[in-house]
Order: sequence, then structure tokens, then C-alpha cells
Amino acid sequence: MLDIESVRETLSKHFDLAPSLEKAEATKDIYETTDRVVSSADWAIFAPYVIEINRLKKERNAVILAHNYMTPEIYHGVADFVGDSLQLAIKATEVENDVIVQCGVHFMAETSKILNPSKKVLIPDLKAGCSLAESITAEGVAEMRAKYPGAPVVSYVNTTAEVKAASDICCTSANALQIVEAMEGDTVIMTPDQFLAQNVAALSTKNIVWWAGSCIVHELYTAEDIRAYREFEPDTMVIAHPECTPSVVAEADFTGSTSGIVDWIHKNKPAKAMLVTECSMAANIADELPEVEFAKPCNMCPFMKKITLEKILWSLYNMEHEVVVDPEVAAKARLAVERMIDLSKSLVK
Ligand code: 13P
Ligand code: SF4
Repeated sequence: MLDIESVRETLSKHFDLAPSLEKAEATKDIYETTDRVVSSADWAIFAPYVIEINRLKKERNAVILAHNYMTPEIYHGVADFVGDSLQLAIKATEVENDVIVQCGVHFMAETSKILNPSKKVLIPDLKAGCSLAESITAEGVAEMRAKYPGAPVVSYVNTTAEVKAASDICCTSANALQIVEAMEGDTVIMTPDQFLAQNVAALSTKNIVWWAGSCIVHELYTAEDIRAYREFEPDTMVIAHPECTPSVVAEADFTGSTSGIVDWIHKNKPAKAMLVTECSMAANIADELPEVEFAKPCNMCPFMKKITLEKILWSLYNMEHEVVVDPEVAAKARLAVERMIDLSKSLVK
């Protein structure tokens, strides 16, 4: 278990991590990519960590794969690759470094380990979980199979390795509809996100049945809130993630994966946008899009926010916490994830 007080004590003995205007100046190229949302006073606090993490990364031959929900100082300051779950999974197959530090949640680190088992995969905090991944076990998948015999199981990547191993194929928010449509038969089981399943069902030719899990971040948004906001700011474009309820998705001008959202905003450059997803999304792209005013209401993922610069530095310094997946489970889970990646690649050709 991570004892933050002793982590701090150890780090302070080995690194000078005091806020520093000099170090802020030395990293001003990075700061300029995020100065719309990070104050210069905060950057003086972050800069010493950014410098040490980037130095240690080279020493350990490590690469940092970061999800779009990481805070701006991680996303812009230390990540080597940023993306949505599908992009991170594909990137994990290509990593040649010895070490992957996964800045995201545990299922993402497990996916990297499953796809590139010879690498050491580290996660800076083991408590970075996910309400969807916690909502189902391999027994739950077996229950669904018993209830709908012969129907293929499409599991969201937001699941444990055991659940992936018990599934026929995985999907992410970027490819869920295409994966479901490619399945044989009329009925398809989707686990564990009921709202993603319902949003896919609205567009699919298949009879979709689902597990009743949900994301504690996206389920908080309501259609009433969005309508009220639109009344207050009528020219705001509403962009939602498909983990939101179907009634929220019905209010949105666009729905897509976290990277789908980034691409849509870049392409359309609306004057005002409300990202109906995790708070760091808007913060991370704010500097690239000075012409877009982002609406403030957002919900924070408490699991993603477990990952901090301090814990990343600790992770690289102490080579903790290693993510281990039972090789037999990993081999089965790999089939489900690789099927998804292969199918996704063949669909975009
Ligand atoms: P994306 O695959 O769209 O990045 O979503 C992952 C996630 O956990 C969203 O809550
Ligand atoms: Fe899981 Fe929701 Fe957090 Fe994404 S935002 S990691 S789905 S709890």
C-alpha cells in the first residue's frame, strides 16, 4: 500500500522538489502548451517533478502512456503518448522500451501487460480503479452466457483481465458499434456498461442485451442539466461520451470516445463547447484551441485523479507498482483484445 508520507520523505532525500522559478523557466517550452489552464505559480511547483520524471524516464528506459483524463501537467509535462483506450492499447503493442508507466487506471495497465507481456508495466497508484471494471466478474459473464446461449460476449476494455479472458472480443467507446455489428447472430451480449450498450443498441441492427454496470462519472450528467445549460448559453455545442445515459446522448451535438471528442473539437472549432465527460479533457486541449470557450461544468473521475506527478516520480524511482497478470488468463484475454484491434484496423482500411 502506498504510504504517501513515507513516499514524500524518501523523495525529498533524493530529489530537490521545492517549488522553483528557475526550473519553471527551464521548462517554459512545456509550460507554454498548458498556460491557459495552469497558473505560473502552479507550474513552479510542477516543474521540479517534470524535470526529474523526464530524466528518470531515460535512465530506466521507460515510456509513459497517458489517458486523455490525466491532469494537464501529466498530459503535457511527462507523457510520451496520450490517447483514448483504443489508442493506448494499440500503442502498448508497439512499445520497445523496457518499462511502461501507465498513467491511467488499472484496467489500462493490465491491457498493456496483456498485449506486451515481456515489458515491466507500472502503475503509480494501485487504487486507480474504475466503477465499470469493478461491476462485473468472470462469473457475471458466465451468467449472461447461460441466459443467452450462443450469443457472443463483447466486453468493454474497462474490465479486468479475467473478464476479458471470459469474453469473445473487447470493444472501446471508439469502436463499440462496429464490433457489435461484426458479430455473428442476432443477439449480442455487451458488458459491463449498460449505457454504452443502450447507446449502441439505438444505432445497431442487433438485439443487444447488457450487464447493468455504469460509470460513476458519466452517469451523473442528466438531460435536464444540459437543457438548462443550453437555455443559459444557447449557442454551446454539447459533446458527450457514450458512457452517458441515452437521454444525455440524445441532447448532444456529437458523441464519441475521448479522442473522438478531441478530433471533433479540432475539426469544428465551435465558439463554445460543453464536454460532457471528465474535467481534464477540456483542460488538456484548451491551449491548442484558444478560439474555443469551454463550459465549466464537469465531473471528475476520482480513480484517474489518483495519478499525480509525485506518484509517477515514485513509481519510476522505486519501480512500483508492477502490474502482473496470470499468464494463462493473459493469453485468453490477449485473444479478446487482439481480435478487437485487428477488427478495428480492418474496419478503417
Ligand atoms: P475512452 O476509451 O473514450 O478514452 O474512455 C475511457 C474511459 O474510461 C472513459 O470514462
Ligand atoms: Fe471508469 Fe468512469 Fe473513471 Fe472512466 S471515468 S475510468 S469509466 S470510473
